[in-house]
Amino acid sequence: MGRCKGKRALVTGGGSGIGAATARLLASDGAMVMLADRDVDAARSVASEIGEAAHATELQVTDQASWDNAIKATLDALGGWDVLVNCAGILRRGTIESTPLDMWHDVINVNLTGTWRGCRAAVAHMRENGGGGIVNLSSVSGLVGDSELCAYDASKGGVRLLTKSIAHYCTENQLGIRCNSIHPGVIQTPMVHNYIAEADDPENERKLWDAFTPEGVNAQAEDVAELIAFIASDPSHLINGAELVIDGGAMAS
Ligand SMILES: NC(=O)c1ccc[n+]([C@@H]2O[C@H](COP(=O)([O-])OP(=O)(O)OC[C@H]3O[C@@H](n4cnc5c(N)ncnc54)[C@H](O)[C@@H]3O)[C@@H](O)[C@H]2O)c1
Repeated sequence: MGRCKGKRALVTGGGSGIGAATARLLASDGAMVMLADRDVDAARSVASEIGEAAHATELQVTDQASWDNAIKATLDALGGWDVLVNCAGILRRGTIESTPLDMWHDVINVNLTGTWRGCRAAVAHMRENGGGGIVNLSSVSGLVGDSELCAYDASKGGVRLLTKSIAHYCTENQLGIRCNSIHPGVIQTPMVHNYIAEADDPENERKLWDAFTPEGVNAQAEDVAELIAFIASDPSHLINGAELVIDGGAMAS
């Protein structure tokens, strides 16, 4: 039993990739975990593999009633709620000229407004219940622009500053809630694999994505989960409003 003993965590996007790896690690570090995903079967399958510390519920992050249900399920199953990890996200290709309005709305609704909905609910609950921690998945795409990822970059840049605004508010009002953003580089998850597979020339696309990460660096979801678990645990109490890049050094130059 480790650094997250006694924590009760809701992980969105818990059915796949970084969310699934985070749920696994939080549970092995002593937390109780609710995996929430629009793909509830995937969330259930990860939860049952973790065992009795984990539960699963359906969550569509764009829908307020769905958030209300998922939070109720979390409180019922875990007996409280101290940690929110906002991992649910989508990646869509499009430049400023090729992004249709409905794609723009989809990406902003899931990645930015979905994160905002979760944060708003977490602050309302945690301020009355002894505080807590929020970890938001932004991206290196929230720090620098990529011509092909217009809506995604905008959503992740929004998550970066949403996070700082929440941290500032919670500090100013002494709510005992920390809020930080995580900025992964290219991590080997279904999100990236699917994006590459759907490209016109997947082989060339794979080369472009591989070229981002410095040679010899192996970037897996479990590596990002290690950072998230630390940020969710008490020894990181001084880290608040921070943007934490985890990319094997890709952004260093
Ligand atoms: N993989 C990377 O290289 C990378 C890099 C930087 C940031 N990120 C971010 O990390 C987070 C996790 O990404 P991942 O790579 O693990 O992706 P993934 O596709 O493997 O997992 C994302 C999960 O989110 C769920 N989801 C999507 N839309 C949802 C919605 N509307 N409501 C509820 N659940 C929804 C999916 O069902 C899926 O289980 C995302 O926010 C992503 O933008 C990923």
